[in-house]
Amino acid sequence: MYRTIYQNIADCIGNTPVLELHHSLVPDGKRLLLKLEYFNPSFSIKDRTALGLVKAAMASGKLKKGGTLIESTSGNLGKSLAMLGAAYGFRVIVVIDAKTSASVIRWCQTYGAQMEMVYETDKNGGYQKTRVARVRQLLAQNPGAFWPNQYDNDQNPAFHYATTGEEVAALKADAVFGSVSTGGHLCGISRKVKEKRPRTTVIACDVEGSAVFGGVFHSYLVNGAGLSWRSGNTDLFLLDKICTWSDQEAFSICRLLAQDNGLLVGGSGGLVICGALAWLRQKRSAAKSVVAVIPDSGVNYLEQIYSDEWLAGKNISLLDQSELEERLAAKPFLDAEDLRDEECVAQGQLVEQGS
Ligand SMILES: Cc1ncc(COP(=O)(O)O)c(C=O)c1O
Repeated sequence: MYRTIYQNIADCIGNTPVLELHHSLVPDGKRLLLKLEYFNPSFSIKDRTALGLVKAAMASGKLKKGGTLIESTSGNLGKSLAMLGAAYGFRVIVVIDAKTSASVIRWCQTYGAQMEMVYETDKNGGYQKTRVARVRQLLAQNPGAFWPNQYDNDQNPAFHYATTGEEVAALKADAVFGSVSTGGHLCGISRKVKEKRPRTTVIACDVEGSAVFGGVFHSYLVNGAGLSWRSGNTDLFLLDKICTWSDQEAFSICRLLAQDNGLLVGGSGGLVICGALAWLRQKRSAAKSVVAVIPDSGVNYLEQIYSDEWLAGKNISLLDQSELEERLAAKPFLDAEDLRDEECVAQGQLVEQGS
């Protein structure tokens, strides 16, 4: 029996399933719950982000049927916005870069979006800043067009607070794990979870090379997670701990769970599962039940993470279970509070120097 007949593909976003992971890496008596965001219609958590940004813009009149939306994204948000453009009847221009996969481009075009490519890197070697510069040019050429600006628009975490956060809080777990790029989904979820159960620990799982939590940016292979700077939507006051994983560690857990559990998760899901398993296995944590938010599906990466040839070409050898166990046991978790304090001191010094 169907409980609901939906009227628009956008109505199918959210209320994603939760799967308990049964694997020998999960210690006896502990529970790892996977919130499978790839059950959204374009197979990622970014359907929710896109819906939040679009709904708020339509409600405020900034985006109308027949209007134009322009956004910079190299992946999942572009697909989600392109899908919503088709569903709600607005034009979508997606600014991408030379690293964007052919599959993402085809996907967005199939929904009717226009693609704008940038070829030049910024001074960090990334494309994010040159893409944003192109967005600004396009906005000047398309008066009245709407730029969601996922990095700094507070409607991004606000929508996750109201929806994803509510669903995750209902699981009443001791800790919540998520990946961070804009920070929108994890910080939105955290605000809700901490409101309902203040003692829940929220842990960000980043990729080596990302500069979201400091350090020097260098390129990495996990898609979607990390950034060459920290965006306005990553609020350190909503995070308790931070852990960082390599491409190799993330991809190894993805491949292991595909074979052992029939799970096909993207690389950022691999980061988050590594973090959750390490926390459950290390003595320092008394957590009995934790939730890991899995942003997207391995379907996006069949020719990458799930291809032995591609991994060999990138010089990545997969770790076996016992090697992974060693990595999980040794992984440090940093206190977000220490990072906040360090930044306050650094800012204080800057003010003193300036005065
Ligand atoms: C696969 C994947 N993982 C993680 C993230 C990070 O999500 P957020 O931007 O909400 O921090 C994204 C964002 O694009 C993503 O596409």
